[in-house]
Amino acid sequence: MPQCRKCKCCVSSDTNICYQNDIGKYNGVLLDKTSRFTCKGKPVHNFVSTSTFTEYTVVDDIAVAKIHRDAPLDKVCLIGCAFSTGYGSAVKAAKVKPGSTCVVFGLGGVGLSVIMGCKVSGASRIIAVDLNSDKFAKAKEFGATDFINPKDYDRPIDEVLTEMTEDGVDYAFEVIGNTGVMTSALKSTHFGYGKTIIVGVAPSTATISFDPMLVLTGRVLTGAVFGGIIFSSGALVLYILYVKTVHLYCIVQQILQREE
Ligand SMILES: NC(=O)c1ccc[n+]([C@@H]2O[C@H](COP(=O)([O-])OP(=O)(O)OC[C@H]3O[C@@H](n4cnc5c(N)ncnc54)[C@H](O)[C@@H]3O)[C@@H](O)[C@H]2O)c1
Ligand SMILES: [Zn+2]
Repeated sequence: MPQCRKCKCCVSSDTNICYQNDIGKYNGVLLDKTSRFTCKGKPVHNFVSTSTFTEYTVVDDIAVAKIHRDAPLDKVCLIGCAFSTGYGSAVKAAKVKPGSTCVVFGLGGVGLSVIMGCKVSGASRIIAVDLNSDKFAKAKEFGATDFINPKDYDRPIDEVLTEMTEDGVDYAFEVIGNTGVMTSALKSTHFGYGKTIIVGVAPSTATISFDPMLVLTGRVLTGAVFGGIIFSSGALVLYILYVKTVHLYCIVQQILQREE
């Protein structure tokens, strides 16, 4: 994530979306308008200022973050996206309060990291939702307390959630990238103060529609890239967190198993 430290956003420190970010614009080039990758003589675009899944890459200097020299790269790579995104979405973007009720839609590496963030924040109930029930065991290990597979119900899942939480959850996280689920997440939050965080990335042409009364009555809908974390200044903290508090190894295993 680039951080020029000069633009309006960087100066405000309320956001990590620097003007130099390529997210949503997808120009696919570095700041000097070039990509350093080619394939068979043709240029290959750079993905959101990084381009990973490669042994070497070139990134803009304002997008480089220093990490601890002892950090094991096969595990610490998760701090570069999945873990930081999920954990930050709960702790920084939503600012989950102790004793609250959270629902997490989607239990991939990012969703599991949201669960960790909710747990560390002291949430008393964390409801995990996924179409694949095999995901529930791992979610439980990370702190989820309730499990819902929408396939087991013949009515909208927001209705089920509203019922089981006395009028709605405090925080809902959409960690799939499905606009239908985003609306469900919003509907599942409590009127007056419920907060929905969009973490999943929907297809670039997707749009979302919902009854404006949902937000008129006080629900908040927001989203965060990379969990709202300013990586260049937070990398060390995240690394310490990684070593001391959570065991990312389990997520790495899960991702490797998925790839197999
Ligand atoms: N905001 C950010 O900065 C950021 C960063 C990284 C990833 N992402 C996005 O986060 C999302 C999750 O990433 P991931 O790697 O964890 O994905 P993943 O594919 O590993 O996990 C998605 C999970 O959602 C479940 N799912 C799919 N459709 C569902 C539905 N309709 N209802 C319930 N569950 C459903 C799947 O079974 C799966 O377990 C993606 O959209 C990704 O692009 C966002
Ligand atoms: Zn900036």
